Amino acid sequence: MTSAPSAEQTTRIPDDIARAVVLPESYGDEKNVTYPAFSWLRQNLPVGQAFVDGYDPLWLITKFDDIMTVEKNHSLFNASMNNPILNTQAGDAFLRSLTPDGSIRYLDALPFLDPPEHTQIKAATSNWFTPKNVAKFADRIRAIAREDVEKLLSFDGECDWATDFALYYPLRVILGLFGIPQDDLPLMLKLTQEFFGANDPDEKRDDVEVSPEAAARQFQAAFADFFAYFDQFTEDRRTNPRDDLMSVIANAKIDGKFLGQATVNGSYLQVATAGHDTTSSTVSGVAIAMAQQPDQWQRVREDHSLISNMVNEAVRWTSPVKHFMRSASEDTVLHGVQIRKGDRLMLNYPSGNRDEDYFADADTFDLDRSPNKHLGFGFGGHMCIGQHIARIEMEILFEELAPKIKKIELAGEPKPIKTNFVSSFKSVPVKFTKA
Ligand code: HEM
Repeated sequence: MTSAPSAEQTTRIPDDIARAVVLPESYGDEKNVTYPAFSWLRQNLPVGQAFVDGYDPLWLITKFDDIMTVEKNHSLFNASMNNPILNTQAGDAFLRSLTPDGSIRYLDALPFLDPPEHTQIKAATSNWFTPKNVAKFADRIRAIAREDVEKLLSFDGECDWATDFALYYPLRVILGLFGIPQDDLPLMLKLTQEFFGANDPDEKRDDVEVSPEAAARQFQAAFADFFAYFDQFTEDRRTNPRDDLMSVIANAKIDGKFLGQATVNGSYLQVATAGHDTTSSTVSGVAIAMAQQPDQWQRVREDHSLISNMVNEAVRWTSPVKHFMRSASEDTVLHGVQIRKGDRLMLNYPSGNRDEDYFADADTFDLDRSPNKHLGFGFGGHMCIGQHIARIEMEILFEELAPKIKKIELAGEPKPIKTNFVSSFKSVPVKFTKA
């Protein structure tokens, strides 16, 4: 952020590359669309501006170091000035129309906040998310893992790994930790997919047509349903606190006062939704990688101490969270490029995680990759609060699975959801050989 921009600097990204990164449909084929675009950007225009019809102009940040610089400097690169999640202009206008003051803060949740508010609210619940506390729930998580592995085995050698297996396990774990009745699993699944998959035509509610406004409306409808659902639990958890996450959020206090109702609901919603599509996407990523490299699965089966490396590399390789957004709070220079106050920056985690300056042969899943400090969980003040839950639940799952399955093969092309935010798979057809 120190060197001045050159006078003749040209920062406009070619339109085809810009569309390949910005549009949700590009993420239906990352190998052939988004990854080549990211590679071009890292080499030619690591901080370049994308102009895509229907979207605000966006600075696409694609190098690991630049993403870190932005993440670390929250007063200069702010999360609350504009939508921290990329949306169309029409979609954002619709969301602003829903708030009384026309602000974009349509959800009172951590990704939308800056310090000091962000720091206070995060601190109010963060003790629950530490590795030490999460480890207390390992036995409960293992019981769910065992049941789900048995269910997988019952498919007798062939299934859709994404929809028959990877989708349910993280959802069951997070609902259990959260304290939500397991019977409500289908409802939570449906709401999350509507929330994250709002741009994918296959994930629409039946009653909305495919348009940016309709996608935003779907978002809002999903919120309203979530809030109506969660309201019933807050009073109960204040009167009868348990060891679940809902009790932690319901009873969190700042300066001796409970968090406001909007923040309580916003916190429920973000944890309930952020906690499973991300993880199920990574679990599917492991299946795809291990099908491509059966020797690595064999090594994991023989040596379970490799499981934590495998999980960590799967988060890098899959990068289920495609971006978060920041806005410049004043004029500044990043990577020699002039950024103006109010400009919006898209932090492209999948690109940072394939930056050749940090990751050799980055497209290859490498069990032995070391060091492997990636950006899959973000970085800085907003870094993923649930990362230890995600790691421990995946480690337990693969400890249970590895002895039972000798070989995983793809039986068809994996189909990701077309979204530029949090990915998941619609389908990962596999054949597997029981041990
Ligand atoms: C493999 C699984 C997961 C991945 C890849 C992932 C990734 C991320 C990323 C990239 C961010 C943004 C970080 C930033 O802005 O720098 C984030 C934030 C967040 N994640 Fe996760 N996450 C995962 C699992 C979870 C789980 C299991 C939970 C909850 C139980 C969770 C809850 C959150 C919350 C609440 C935030 C907002 C934090 C803030 O803004 O301060 N995530 N996650």
